[in-house]
Amino acid sequence: MSEDYTVLTALSGPDGLAVLKEVEVPVIVSDQRMPVMTGAEFLEKSRELSPDSVRIILTGYADVEAAIGAINRGGAYRYVSKPWNDNELLLVIKDAFDKYRLVKENKYLTELTIQQNGELKKWSTELEFYVQQHTIELTNQNKELKKLNAKLKNNVSEVLGSLSGLIELRNRSMRNHSNNVALLSKSIAEEIGLTSLETETIAVGAQLHDIGKIGAPDIILIKNIDELSSDEMAEYVKHPIRGQAAIDGIEDFRGPGILVRHHHEWYNGKGFPDGLKGENIPIGARIISIADSLDRTLQGEMRSIDTALIQIKSMLASQFDAALYASLEKAARKLFSSIIRNDIVEIELNTKDLSPGMILSRDVSTGTGLLLLRKGTVLNEKNIETLKRAVYLDPSKRGIFVTTKKGVS
Ligand SMILES: [Fe+2]
Ligand SMILES: [Fe+2]
Repeated sequence: MSEDYTVLTALSGPDGLAVLKEVEVPVIVSDQRMPVMTGAEFLEKSRELSPDSVRIILTGYADVEAAIGAINRGGAYRYVSKPWNDNELLLVIKDAFDKYRLVKENKYLTELTIQQNGELKKWSTELEFYVQQHTIELTNQNKELKKLNAKLKNNVSEVLGSLSGLIELRNRSMRNHSNNVALLSKSIAEEIGLTSLETETIAVGAQLHDIGKIGAPDIILIKNIDELSSDEMAEYVKHPIRGQAAIDGIEDFRGPGILVRHHHEWYNGKGFPDGLKGENIPIGARIISIADSLDRTLQGEMRSIDTALIQIKSMLASQFDAALYASLEKAARKLFSSIIRNDIVEIELNTKDLSPGMILSRDVSTGTGLLLLRKGTVLNEKNIETLKRAVYLDPSKRGIFVTTKKGVS
């Protein structure tokens, strides 16, 4: 067994301490009996200069007490009795080196742990601060986005309001029509379980479905569809395409624009403008189509919701998606019962049946379209006479619509 050690020697305790001041010595072997200072004193002093060194004291049998003192005060690792066996001493020294390495390693690891703990603590504090800062930033950004979003939504609904107002300005008979169709379509979409986004798109499409009529000639807006000449009809069928083109520039209205284009398609494929058939017609357009027809029927010659529904029912096979009828009926009864007061009904009369005090529920025009009296006018002897004369000279296909209490005719 041989080990490669560097050996530093000193002839006395003070010499040994001088060496320790210069270099770190892993293992110190000291005799107990030395001049100037004892081995126990030397080891005690060496501890201050080199605390991690492993100390061994060589001592004779008579000096066991001193050896114990060296172990206690000088932090000696062990003592070796004189005379020693070389091999044993070598083993002890080897053990001492191992212990020194362990002590050093342990010290290094402890320091490393303390240092890493400190760094972790610092990181954790920094991370916490960073997360807090980010949370604040994100919360602020979120608030800003919510504000912007609300503003955008507001803008869109303002644009929608202005556009549908334009349709009504252009054609008085359409007053409330867009609103009614939008309310009915929305109810139907909800009833059949479409998503809120689909429902919103349909409601916007319904509100704007006839926007293409703004560009149509007056005569087309005044007449009923079945009264249009073939030239006028050719003009009328353009309004869904014009409507889509009119709103296509606004990104939010592109989806609704597709529904505007197809709101006059028929379920049997005989509608316009593209002759789409059945399920190929977007569901939103099928909904708007049936809601539009019901409201037009109600505003036309059909006076009650029951009569209007019967008319729609008769066209289910050809014009509408039959699967939507039940939802339409439910929506219509709910909507119109809240709009029409139960005790007030609208009736259509001949001029000879008019009497003072009745209120016109619709504008009255002559057969050629000259406006005679506005909706809301209260009838008296004088204006009844005027009406009778005008109707005699230029008869209209329709009677005079007035509101009256239920049971009065
Ligand atoms: Fe239309
Ligand atoms: Fe319409």
